[in-house]
Amino acid sequence: MEEKINQISIVYKQKIDQAKNLSDLDLIYIDLFGKNGEMTLLPRQFSKLIKEELKIISPLFNKIKNYLSEQIELKRAQIKEDSYSKLSTETLSINEKINFTLPKAKLHPLTVFERQTADIFKKIGFSQFEAPYIDTDYYNFEALNIPEEHPARDLWDTLYIDSEKYGIQPGKLLLRTHTSNSQLRILKRYNPPIRIMNIGTSFRYENLDARHEHTFDQFELVFVDKNLSLADLQYLSEYYLKEAFGQQMKARLRPKYYPFVEPGAGIDALCIFCKGQGCKICGNTGWIELAGAGMIHPKVLENAGINPKEYSGIAWGIGPERMLMLKYGINDLRLFRNGDLDFLEKLEIEEKR
Ligand code: PHE
Repeated sequence: MEEKINQISIVYKQKIDQAKNLSDLDLIYIDLFGKNGEMTLLPRQFSKLIKEELKIISPLFNKIKNYLSEQIELKRAQIKEDSYSKLSTETLSINEKINFTLPKAKLHPLTVFERQTADIFKKIGFSQFEAPYIDTDYYNFEALNIPEEHPARDLWDTLYIDSEKYGIQPGKLLLRTHTSNSQLRILKRYNPPIRIMNIGTSFRYENLDARHEHTFDQFELVFVDKNLSLADLQYLSEYYLKEAFGQQMKARLRPKYYPFVEPGAGIDALCIFCKGQGCKICGNTGWIELAGAGMIHPKVLENAGINPKEYSGIAWGIGPERMLMLKYGINDLRLFRNGDLDFLEKLEIEEKR
């Protein structure tokens, strides 16, 4: 009997060592300790033993029983451990093959350009101001000398908000068509001299094509002081163009109608492609229209309680998308907002800050 127990110990220790997986171990366990297992059946023969023999066999049996079940547990733990570490090295090699790291986040080219533009004007004392994107027709039109039914409203294809359900008369609430909706707010909020800029999104009811978008950005300046004149407007425009596009740039003012400025001006820049020689992009004129501007209309100053006899003002607005299109030769305005990452990656403009 003693020999048999030792034999079981040796044979099963070997089987345990050779087990490759948990189910091998389960089978070994059943063979030993299951209903008909070797270690289960063995004690049934103990009754045949004499007392002296039993004194030796019984502790030996218990020792081997404990030993084998301990060995099974140890092996079980080892198999689990091995499979875990194998799993993690396998995952590691998948990780090495596929690059899971995200590309470095970048700012949208428009954001970079607008921040640079803001920096250019910050240097000469302009501070930033925000105006609402959803606004009343008062700030977007009336305060700017564009009364209801005035034909000039047709210059802005306006998206009106279905405001009746908010208890607001139809036609009174709209998506701002330009950042000029900030003008009256700025003029009312600050006492002259005023140097404020407003960058933000504007909206128009447009037929979309390469040059028209329903959503686009504008950059606006409001500058009020004593004795400002068109000469200051010319200087401001040229200052901006030189800072943004280089010292060879020049600005030219042309008469242009906007109801909230008098006189109103369209600002042309010397064509950055042909430097004034005349080319396809500037239609052989040597100049490209860049901004709308003018001397703030006396009525607008009055609406804000500023005496137009004492102060004069300059309003000036550019379209950042249009500037970028010119600077980088982009031929479709819609590219800025259609989520085309390929385009945005290529148009990586240098972040200076
Ligand atoms: N708000 C005008 C537009 O969107 C541009 C402009 C700004 C004109 C400031 C004059 C002065 O067309």
